[in-house]
Amino acid sequence: MEHKPTAASLDKIISLCKRKGFVFQTAEIYGGLNGVYDFGHLGYLLRENIKKAWKNSIENDLGEIYTLEGSLLGVHKMWQASGHIDNFNDPMVDCKNCKKRFRADDGSVDLNKSCPDCGIKNWTEVRSFNLMFKTEVGAVSDGTNHAYLRPETAQTIFINFKNMMTTNRAKLPFGVAQIGKSFRNEITPKQFLFRLREFEQMELEWFCKEETSMDMFQFWLEHRRKFYQSIGLNMDKIRFHAHSKEELAHYSVCCTDIEYEFPFGFKELEGIAHRGTFDLSQHTQFSGKDLQVFEEATKSSWTPVVVETSVGVDRLFLTVLFDAYYEDEMDGETRVVLKLHPSIAPIKFAVFPLVKKLEEPAYALFKTLKKINPNIQFDVTGSIGKRYRRQDEIGTPACITYDFESEQDHAVTIRDRDTGKQERIAIDKIIPYLQSKNIL
Ligand code: GAP
Repeated sequence: MEHKPTAASLDKIISLCKRKGFVFQTAEIYGGLNGVYDFGHLGYLLRENIKKAWKNSIENDLGEIYTLEGSLLGVHKMWQASGHIDNFNDPMVDCKNCKKRFRADDGSVDLNKSCPDCGIKNWTEVRSFNLMFKTEVGAVSDGTNHAYLRPETAQTIFINFKNMMTTNRAKLPFGVAQIGKSFRNEITPKQFLFRLREFEQMELEWFCKEETSMDMFQFWLEHRRKFYQSIGLNMDKIRFHAHSKEELAHYSVCCTDIEYEFPFGFKELEGIAHRGTFDLSQHTQFSGKDLQVFEEATKSSWTPVVVETSVGVDRLFLTVLFDAYYEDEMDGETRVVLKLHPSIAPIKFAVFPLVKKLEEPAYALFKTLKKINPNIQFDVTGSIGKRYRRQDEIGTPACITYDFESEQDHAVTIRDRDTGKQERIAIDKIIPYLQSKNIL
């Protein structure tokens, strides 16, 4: 009978991340900090690969992409202009009995019922809670020097629009991309990396003419769909959700979410928004600095329209883990395997000596291959089966075994993670072989 692979639950993903050193709860030895995580070696590598894949994916034939690394702290007026001071709020309610705080609009609590924590029904009024982290800059703490940790990377792009356009001598349409940290004081961070207080975003602000903006919006929808296909996500779990008028954010003309089917339901992975001229007009108004472009041909000035694509690194990290996690049977054993696309797998391949006796020549081969790609591993501990399982669990696409015949035939055995199939490959053909499998 064919064995049906088992897909992941949130608990299994959390446990794997901790066991293998992908993710650690921050300050765990001090009791942790809710909604904030540290990433270990494999987590760091997976994040880097995700970011690299995203950066490559936004290249396109319509216009140039420039890159910005904006500051994390932003001044009060900037966040007033963007609408975050007035609108970036979630409704919050407290249990007067146990003092536990809940978001009132995401199904965490039913205010007609008792508190899910203490079982008593004694709610405060629902009030608005601003999600930005506020701080004071400088030594004087008289309330005049407020700054905020950015809740999205987008605004540093808008305030630098003119700088980016002139210094790069950019022609419309063009994009400004940014990968960087954002901070939101979420009332109830939840589902591990899904809703965090400190997270990283990959945002592209695409500046174009009003007349072409709807076509550009459609272009980016399709372009982003192809990205998820290219990193191997199961497209049956992806759907597009076009926002109704009531769902639209204050700045949006139209918006579509790319949603993924998590074990806890279809949820937003990425947002694609036609932001109109809202951002540049607001910053022009609040700063008094003109952010329009001047068109020589028509001798007219106008404000470009923005189409934005925005996805969280951490949310995509969680998505690829859910998507890649399987428990199946191989060689008569149940194994946990991450069937990650080779382009994002943190470790590209591992090298093993069949037995300890062969460690020296196998290690020499490993050192040579490490010069081609540093993200490979050498393992001599335990049976070959155990060593395969270790690599399967972290998503390593291939394992190379140096055996007794290798001395004579100058070849090794390369085993495929997903099928377990083994091929005999000449040592001097290892690199082209791995390249042909998109591993290198
Ligand atoms: N500039 C537009 C913007 O920030 P958003 O829908 O609030 O829009 C964009 O966020 C993406 O950032 C989301 O689709 C999600 O992938 C990620 N994101 C937002 N809030 C997050 C949080 N608290 N934790 C993790 N990722 C988050």
